[in-house]
Formats: sequence, C-alpha cells, structure tokens
Amino acid sequence: MRKKVTVVGAGNVGATTAQRVHGLGYADVVLVDVVEDLPQGKALDMLESGPVVGSDASITGSNDYEATADSDLVIITAGIARKPGMSRDDLLLTNMKIVGAVTSQVAAHSPNCIIIVVTNPLDPMVQHAYEVSGFPRERVFGMAGILDTSRFRTFIAQELGVSGEDVQAYVLGSHGDDMVPLVRYTTVGGIPISELLPQDTIDRLVKRARQGGGEIVALLKAGSAYYAPSAAITQMAEAVLLDRKRILPCCAYLDGEYGIEGLYVGVPVKLGAGGLEQIIEISLTDEERAALDKSAANTREMVEVMRKAVAAGG
Ligand code: NAI
Ligand code: 2OP
Repeated sequence: MRKKVTVVGAGNVGATTAQRVHGLGYADVVLVDVVEDLPQGKALDMLESGPVVGSDASITGSNDYEATADSDLVIITAGIARKPGMSRDDLLLTNMKIVGAVTSQVAAHSPNCIIIVVTNPLDPMVQHAYEVSGFPRERVFGMAGILDTSRFRTFIAQELGVSGEDVQAYVLGSHGDDMVPLVRYTTVGGIPISELLPQDTIDRLVKRARQGGGEIVALLKAGSAYYAPSAAITQMAEAVLLDRKRILPCCAYLDGEYGIEGLYVGVPVKLGAGGLEQIIEISLTDEERAALDKSAANTREMVEVMRKAVAAGG
C-alpha cells in the first residue's frame, strides 16, 4: 500500500509540491485549500498527467480534512505569501492563525503523521505548529535550509562553471536575512571553497544567497519563489517516505543542542521514516556561533510576539 501525503495550501508552493510528489508515484496525495474547487481542479489536472509521467498514485483535492485522515506525512504551505516590500516578519500574525487552524485539523485527523511546515515566517510557524499539535519534535520540522543552501550551491556552481550537484554547502539559523551560511563547510567535489574562490567573491555569493528569496519576489512582482522551494520540500518528503536517512539542513526544535533551549532553528539533521531522527551538532567558530545566536534571538522575539497575541486572544 502506498504512503499517504497531504499538502495543505494549493497555491504556488503547495500545488508544485503536490505535482512533484504525485509524479514520484509512490505516495497518494491529498491537496487541501480553503478556496472552493481549487484543490479539486488542480488535483484532477495532475491526476490526468499520470499516464504520461508514469505515476499510478492517486491525487485528490478537498476543502476539508476528512479526506486527509491517517496521512503519513502532512506538508503545510497554507498562508499568504510575501509581496514586494513586505518582509517575512510582516506575515507573522496572519500566518500564525492560518497555521494554527490547519495544524489543529491535521493533528485531529492524522494523529500519527509527520508534519513539514513551509509557511513563512518559517521558524516561528514551525514552533507554532509544534505547540498546537502537541506532537514530539521528531514529527514536526520545517523546510528552509535546503532551499537556502540550494541557492548558495547554484551561485557557486555558476561562478565556477561546475555542476551544482558537486557543490556541498550548509546554511544554519533562521530562514531570512539572518541565515548563517557555513563557508568553512562548503566544498566543491570535496575541495574547500576557499581553495577555489577569493574571499570577496565568496562574500558576494553569500550575500546573494541570503537575499535569494527577495531577488525572486522582486522579479515575480506578485508572489514568491515556488519551483526551488517545492523541490526542497520534495527532497525532505522523499527522505521520510523512503527512510533515506539523509543529512539535510532543516528547521528543528533544539533542546539544548548548540546551546539553544526550546526553540526552532535551522541545523543539520538526519531525516528518515521516524521523521527527524537526529540533530547533528557541528563545531562553530566564535563568529559563526554569534551569527547563529543572533538569528535564534530574532526567532525568539517573533515567538514572544505570537505568544502575546495568543494570550490576548489573537
Ligand atoms: P500562495 O498564495 O500561492 O498559496 C497559499 C495558499 O494557501 C492559497 O491557495 C490559499 O488559498 C491557501 N490558504 C490560505 N489559508 C488557508 C487555510 N486556512 N487552509 C488551507 N489553505 C489556505 O502562496 P505560496 O507561494 O504557495 O506560498 C505559501 C507559503 O509558503 C507562504 O507563506 C510563503 O511565504 C511560504 N514559503 C516558504 C518557503 C520556505 O523556504 N519555507 C519558500 C517559499 C514559500
Ligand atoms: C523564499 O525564500 C519566500 O521564503 C521564500 O523564496
């Protein structure tokens, strides 16, 4: 029997993710949205691609959660996307309400599922889903690091004229301008990047990766990136569904790791059938640690804003 994957939010990120997961052929997909007929229409269109792309998996659309019952994996992309001139943080309270409502429904209908949160601002949204679901940290985590890293890998590959697949990189911390690219751990075919590019070029590429989401928003004008994000989500889904034990940068709940307590932060983890199976702790320089702490402090501030809003009945 195939695994069951629910994607909540049938907008740009959700629909492209559903399309990619359905195309893999080894998981049935349910696509959910509040807009009437939208998930049904998109799901039917994707289903009709099955004979051509070679997928026998089912994909259906729904406006309620009955159809999602007993999902193995739920991907939450519901929310509003960033518009030009709008920061991810502006999205905080609107998307908190959406993610909270979605998570309650998901937890009620699929009490044993694994949840991957995508909605921005990512780090506080994962924290909110974790708190609302009551699930253990192994079953609630977020996608951002793979996307941020993929952008950095792309720019390095372009600069060197090599395959992006041969570029290995890590990004820690929160998704946004405070992300912490770990240049020391960045290699090309196993060779440290510092052997291949001068520092000022590396600095320029780090800056572009940090602003990668904004660069796409400025070009698209209405909405934000979704092709690279959905590829990153699908890599996480595949790691879980196929128990691949991939080591990937994800947003995970830290319980003392990296000296951070009770907060979601982007770090390298092992992903498999059990969800987040291990948090990988790597040594950091004083500068990297300071950048990580700054990034975590920013997330903690947003979590406090959310908690105050919840306490005030918001
Ligand atoms: P979109 O606007 O195209 O789609 C969002 C969808 O969510 C819409 O179809 C909307 O009807 C739906 N929705 C709203 N409230 C809902 C609810 N209560 N239940 C179910 N569906 C609901 O936006 P897009 O581009 O798909 O982005 C989705 C989210 O993902 C945004 O918050 C965006 O900022 C975030 N994002 C995060 C990334 C990351 O790296 N973590 C990367 C890319 C996007
Ligand atoms: C991005 O980085 C919008 O967070 C999203 O493209």
